[in-house]
Amino acid sequence: MQNNNCKDIVLSFEDYTSKLSVILPKIYGRKPLACVNTFGCQQNVSDSEKIKGILEAAGYGITEDDENADFVIFNTCAVREHAEDRVFGNIGRMKALKKQRQGMLVAVCGCMSQQQIISDKIKNSYPYVDIVLGTRHSHKLPEYIYKRLTGAARIFDISEDFSEIIEGMPIHRDGSLKGWLPIMYGCDNFCTYCIVPHVRGRERSRCSFEIVNEAKAMVAAGFKEITLLGQNVNSYGKGLSEDINFAGLLKKINDIEGDFRIRFMTSHPKDCTTELLDTIAACEKVETHLHLPFQSGSDRVLKTMNRKYDSTTYLNLIKEAKKRIPGVSFTSDIIVGFPGETYEDFKETLRVVKEVEFQALFTFIYSKRNGTPAAVMPDPVSRAEKGKWFNELLLAQEEISKRNYASLVGQVHRVLCDEVKENGKLSGKTLSAVEIEFEGEPSLFGQFVNVKIDRFTNILEGTKI
Ligand code: SAH
Ligand code: SF4
Ligand code: F3S
Repeated sequence: MQNNNCKDIVLSFEDYTSKLSVILPKIYGRKPLACVNTFGCQQNVSDSEKIKGILEAAGYGITEDDENADFVIFNTCAVREHAEDRVFGNIGRMKALKKQRQGMLVAVCGCMSQQQIISDKIKNSYPYVDIVLGTRHSHKLPEYIYKRLTGAARIFDISEDFSEIIEGMPIHRDGSLKGWLPIMYGCDNFCTYCIVPHVRGRERSRCSFEIVNEAKAMVAAGFKEITLLGQNVNSYGKGLSEDINFAGLLKKINDIEGDFRIRFMTSHPKDCTTELLDTIAACEKVETHLHLPFQSGSDRVLKTMNRKYDSTTYLNLIKEAKKRIPGVSFTSDIIVGFPGETYEDFKETLRVVKEVEFQALFTFIYSKRNGTPAAVMPDPVSRAEKGKWFNELLLAQEEISKRNYASLVGQVHRVLCDEVKENGKLSGKTLSAVEIEFEGEPSLFGQFVNVKIDRFTNILEGTKI
């Protein structure tokens, strides 16, 4: 708890949680079920684990099946238009369900509903949605569910008052082997295409004491992989009263006793220091993999995107990382067809892709987000043309990925076995985040295993040694 304001919030949270747990069995005559439908990035998956924890504390059982739920909440993503369309399609399904299920409540929260225009659209066109919340309001859920169940009108709260991080909320983790650990919230970078800073608010770091304690509890509970989350983990620590940066935080978590791995996302190239690269190399639990989005290879486009680096700085950073971190692998995000991008600009992106030789890429065609600066920039290139560039990029990367994977044949890696596949084989990832399939007993699930890579077909296959 960071200040009195937070204390008040938590008091009212506890108050409504206990009130709700008293009335729920009376209303439903049994323990009601809640379903959390999650869209978007790992940050949302992590937020949904908190929402589930809160709902459990208030007396709900958790189900994955929204057709059997008494409370359905959609935790939404606004990053691209396609993501929003999917959410509206799913909310639409609730109309018929609600008619069949007495006492059922529907809520929408997260990045989409944080936008006034979307909240208004739901208010006007989706009358069967009972509660609308933004990205920083999940601690208010017990209060709003209680009020709605006891006769209040539909509730809409996307206020931006909650800038404090509220620690100590209950959490219902989806897995027991790999877990999410948010280290910061929000974003201050305002890339001109991106809605995230507008819906997630200003960057706020959690204090390292809270993070390290949570990591210790996860390790004690048997987690073998912890993924640190933030929109830009490399700027962790800014604004905190303690003197710490991301490299310092990695060291503290690496010092926790136990056999586990530390992953992190996402790294912004502008804040990736040589101190951080050396820390990654020196901390044996930290992955030797950097997800380092560069978005575009054209310096002109990068400037218009407000990314605050150019292609030369990015390529030098990659060279430095290759030199300092043995066996490092890279992945990246790329946007194709940013407003005003020409084929010449796009060829610069291809040039960077070929020079770096990424393990894999996450590629997106630019999607206009209202309220961002890029939304009003001239965008003359047709969707069909952008599609052609996009396919050219995919083809180029396919060749590179294949070459990259093939070069690993013969190597021995320690993998965390995290999947028993339908074909009976096991699969696990190396410290550099590369997946290998191998034969073995299902009891190896959850364990670290040494695997020799035998061949690359369309996947890497190996043998346990
Ligand atoms: N904070 C992270 C990225 C978060 S969003 C970072 O800066 O690296 C994940 C990815 O979605 C971005 O890296 C970008 O490639 C893509 N993206 C964001 N806004 C987009 C838009 N309007 N259109 C297309 N892709 C977008
Ligand atoms: Fe969006 Fe840029 Fe922030 Fe990433 S760093 S969330 S792309 S504004
Ligand atoms: Fe989407 Fe919000 Fe994440 S917009 S990508 S869910 S931060």
